[in-house]
This record gives sequence, C-alpha cells and structure tokens, in this order.
Amino acid sequence: MECIKTINEVRSIVRKAKKEGKRIGLVPTMGYLHEGHLSLMRMAREKSDFVAVSIFVNPIQFGPNEDYESYPRNMKRDLRLCEDVGIDVVFAPEVPEMYPEELLTHVVVEKITDNLCGTFRPGHFTGVATVVSKLFNIIQPDIAVFGQKDYQQLVVIKRMVRDLNIPVEVIGAPTVREEDGLARSSRNSYLSYEERKVAPVLYQSLLKAKGMLDKGERNPDNIKKVMEVMISSKPYTSIQYISIANPCTLEDLEVIKDKALVALAVYVGKTRLIDNILWGYEDA
Ligand code: PAF
Repeated sequence: MECIKTINEVRSIVRKAKKEGKRIGLVPTMGYLHEGHLSLMRMAREKSDFVAVSIFVNPIQFGPNEDYESYPRNMKRDLRLCEDVGIDVVFAPEVPEMYPEELLTHVVVEKITDNLCGTFRPGHFTGVATVVSKLFNIIQPDIAVFGQKDYQQLVVIKRMVRDLNIPVEVIGAPTVREEDGLARSSRNSYLSYEERKVAPVLYQSLLKAKGMLDKGERNPDNIKKVMEVMISSKPYTSIQYISIANPCTLEDLEVIKDKALVALAVYVGKTRLIDNILWGYEDA
C-alpha cells in the first residue's frame, strides 16, 4: 500500500488502475481511524476493485472556535489500519497541497444545510462540500462511501453530486457503535473516563424515541421532551439540538407520518457528539 502526498502522484496511480479496468472506490476521512471508518473501507472494498482512502484534516470545515488544531491525529496507526483492511492507496496531502493559494471557489449547498448541525456550525458544510468535490476531482472515483452517523453530511454530498452531475455513486454506510451504543467517532477520544460513562445516553435517548414512535406517538415535541429529560438527567451533558426531521429535506416535522430522522448534537463536557436514527425504513 502506498501513502501519497501529492495530487499529481495519486492521480497517476489511480489513472493506471482505471486503465486496467478497475472500478475505483474512495473513502474520504480525517484520519484517527476507528472501526466506523474501517467498516466504510470494507464496504468500498466489496463494491470496487481499487480503494483509495484520503486522510486530511480539512481546515476549511472547522469554525474559528472549533477543534481544528487539537483534532486527534495518528498517521502511523492509520496507515497500519488501512494496510490491514487491504486499501490500495492512501492519499494524505498536507494543507498547502490542497489549498496552495487563497480559495476563491466554494461549493455551497443551500437549504439542507440550514438546519441541524448547519444552524450551529455556519460554513461547515460549505467546507465539507468543497473539499469532497476537490477529492472527487482528484481521485475521480466510481463510488464513495460515507457514514450515516454524519447523516446531514451524507445528504449534502448526495445532493451536491446530483446538482453538479458529478459521476460518482455516493453510498451511505450504517453507524458503527460501541457495545454500550455510543456511536464510534474520532472525537470520543476527547472524553474523560466519567464523561465516557454518560455518553451512551445519546443513543439510549434515540432508542427511546424509536420506542415511542413504534408505539404510535406522532407528536415530535412529546418525543423531544422525553429525550431532553433523559439526556439532561446525566451530568456533563448540554443539549445543542434535538431534531425530528424529514429525512430528505431535513426540515423539522410538525407531525410525524411514515418516516423520520431523529438527530441530536449534545456536548458531553467540552466534546460535541452527534448521533441519529432513521425511523420508518425497513433496514434502518
Ligand atoms: O466526515 C469526515 O470525516 C469529513 O467531513 C470528510 C467527509 C472527510 C470531509 O473532510
């Protein structure tokens, strides 16, 4: 497995694989890989013949007071994990390779970025859509795999691909959880021992919501209230949002009909964690 730092080099490696008739898969990541990422890589492995993983902590998707500088990094370990999964090439550029000069062009996805995380992280999804479109242009994959844990990100990327006719199939992969239900995330490493003990309440509250929906509750406010009480009863927690939304438009639902996204962002100590479930889908 090669680890490549330049756009020219990775392009020529992928071009060679394409000439050999291989279907190219891409898994974009910010590194500090965990089982969630590995499951995306395995899915890409299954669905393509040559898998590229990008490892790049993208500065333009972090707000000024967010954790760009402190975002966990461990390239040596990441490369070992990629090798173990059978990745063909890792693209791990430095910031000047991706952003050699002031960036005057951005990809702005409207409306579906207004709610949920978009409300609290202005510019975040523009940073994501911009870097992902750059990665798509650099690698030119046939498929790209993203986690459903970042559900809004997945919807935004799918929409960008549709709107801009980017010839890539975007695939969403299920959230991977710890045994106690906590969604795997690189940011879990920020949690203290005590915070880690309370963090599963996020998923427990989502399961509670699912239980209420299964039993016929259709008023989002009633469900959100129960979730709020559950989460707030735990120390260190501070809710940023709980949303019960249309899974396609991401707009808050006033009445739940057949399908819903239940999504939340909660601070546990200083760590912002997100999670979600889809309700009303057979395989969700
Ligand atoms: O989900 C992530 O890790 C990032 O947002 C992504 C898609 C790699 C873009 O930087």
